[in-house]
Amino acid sequence: MSFDTQSINKQRQNLDEYEQIWVFGYGSLIHKVDFDYIRRRDACIYHFARRFWQGSHDHRGTIDAPGRVLTLVPAEGERCFGAAFQVTKDVFAHLDHREKNGYLRHEIDIHFSHDEKIKGLVYIGEPDNVAYLGEASIADIAQQIFSSVGPSGANKEYVYALAEALRAHNEPDEHVFAVEAALLAYED
Ligand code: BEZ
Repeated sequence: MSFDTQSINKQRQNLDEYEQIWVFGYGSLIHKVDFDYIRRRDACIYHFARRFWQGSHDHRGTIDAPGRVLTLVPAEGERCFGAAFQVTKDVFAHLDHREKNGYLRHEIDIHFSHDEKIKGLVYIGEPDNVAYLGEASIADIAQQIFSSVGPSGANKEYVYALAEALRAHNEPDEHVFAVEAALLAYED
């Protein structure tokens, strides 16, 4: 698989078939949105968990020293909180470009409550993409993130902002908070 997933993503879903188009964000989209949207709702997806297992060569790191950003991994029974955005289909040109470093769009059930859900799209960096870094210890993940900086800023700020947003929504995430704690220990 190439580094640039834009052309693959364009062909993955026929966006004309959706009555409403929703995209689910589980990372920085929870607190920072750089596109127009029709509606935003707190939401969750099931059977996935956030992990800092995707390499970032273009936003929070460089080709020579990649940072680590989030992807989703299958996790039976888990619930992943996030933000869902109802958007027009042209937003995907922007998101496909922003997430071109290995993420593919997947169709997923987005839940707004126990009895309200809708089909939507989510970006996932799967293990077969070239930017995938995979599992590592919390200490190793934190060490890499602490020293990584890219065009979008310091990798550690990506973690701190996300952890803060999850706390503000009262939505703890064990993995995110463990990496945040390990990073904060380096600050001392
Ligand atoms: C996000 O939720 O911010 C996000 C994470 C990975 C890919 C695209 C969006």
